[in-house]
Amino acid sequence: MSKPLRLGLAGLGTVGTGLVKIVQEHADVLAARAGRMIEIAAVCARDPSKNRGVDLSGYDWVDAPLELARREDVDVVVEMIGGSEGAARDLVTAALEAGKHVVTANKALLAHHGYELALLAERHGVGLCYEAAVAGGIPIIKSLREGFAGNRIDGVYGILNGTCNYMLTAMRETGRDFDVILKEAQDLGYAEVDPTFDIDGIDAAHKLCLLSALAFGTQPDFDSLEITGIRGITATDIKFAGEFGYRIKLLGIARRIDGQVMQVMEPCMVPEDSALGGVEDAYNAVYVDGDSVETALLTGKGAGAGPTASAVMSDIMDLARGTVLPVFGIPADKLAPPCWMSLNDVVGGYYLRLDVLDQPGVLADVSAILRDERISIESMVQHGRNPGQPVSIVMILHDTAHAAIVGACQKMESLPAVLAKPCFIPIEEL
Ligand code: NAP
Ligand code: HSE
Repeated sequence: MSKPLRLGLAGLGTVGTGLVKIVQEHADVLAARAGRMIEIAAVCARDPSKNRGVDLSGYDWVDAPLELARREDVDVVVEMIGGSEGAARDLVTAALEAGKHVVTANKALLAHHGYELALLAERHGVGLCYEAAVAGGIPIIKSLREGFAGNRIDGVYGILNGTCNYMLTAMRETGRDFDVILKEAQDLGYAEVDPTFDIDGIDAAHKLCLLSALAFGTQPDFDSLEITGIRGITATDIKFAGEFGYRIKLLGIARRIDGQVMQVMEPCMVPEDSALGGVEDAYNAVYVDGDSVETALLTGKGAGAGPTASAVMSDIMDLARGTVLPVFGIPADKLAPPCWMSLNDVVGGYYLRLDVLDQPGVLADVSAILRDERISIESMVQHGRNPGQPVSIVMILHDTAHAAIVGACQKMESLPAVLAKPCFIPIEEL
């Protein structure tokens, strides 16, 4: 058997300890599959006295993550700290510069610095692996880079944040408060250290940015992504969505339209009986549209210790077998500079909710604005009558340009009888 592959593990939280368990519990099967032992040489976290529920007594403890990049007995630095800057970025950079392979679950780091880190890794001939950074246990990085390598990818659609999907499911099923459900998701280990990254769509956008780079051969470009999270989604919207046969999902979309590529992260309505409509709780899913494969749906747990550590382990196994592939599917210096289609030009159906005073003429004013923007109504619902009082009017609109719906909503907001900013949600008939 070849000499062991030795890991230096930085970060012993949810994912780091999940990885320790796999290394310890599956040592024999991992060795049989890789043809060599996988061993942890040294570990690092902030607090050496914390009980982490795993036996770390066989490993050297180092106080500073950078020591892992310098150790002769570490072949692979496993970065499970998190964050786009600071300790994680310094460690990954130092490890690659020292000619060590890196495995990370850190989508924030790669979304912001993936291009420069990929160039660095490839210059030093080492792997920079990140299967766990997107969609937890789903092998979507491998699938896009290897399984679908024979396709021109036309679209990637993902439910990419377990916390948001868990929350949207629980809000629909139980009607409990947003904050209570968020706390539950945190207790289950799904949420980021700063959960605003989850609910504001930032975490999912980090992941979409990486999928987009892989699918379209472009440099990861987080800054130009249009991002809307789930804070604005109300129980009323979830209920109306159900009445029209839809579910609300925080959806990342990167797709080709007329030779251009658009990417956006936002809450969307999808048919409740569709493949993505059935993805509930902390599950993630990625729907891939390729010219040869046609469509494929990959689904699984997108967060938590086990699923995420499972993905980390698959990267380690690749390295143990000597497999090192271009970070984003093609050599980093060949990745195209980003050039995205403006969201304004994207055409699709919309759900529109207006909170208005129930009085004569309101609908006429609203319809006039829609007519002027050349937007056509497919169906409309108002429950009951409440003369002179607030009431919600909900419409499903035929295909219209994003710019037109934005313009119409701005005009409606200034009508005296419209009580709040109109809420519009795109409909994806996937
Ligand atoms: P976590 O539970 O907060 O663990 C972070 C670990 O990093 C802790 O052990 C912490 O030490 C250590 N750490 C923080 N700053 C450090 C520093 N300056 N030096 C040394 N150690 C430091 O985080 P996590 O949930 O495991 O996430 C780790 C990474 O995986 C993140 O990039 C995250 O986005 C990604 N990820 C997480 C999930 C998930 O479901 N949780 C899923 C996919 C990807 P102490 O324990 O001593 O404080
Ligand atoms: N906070 C993330 C989520 C963890 O909820 O999906 C997985 O990346």
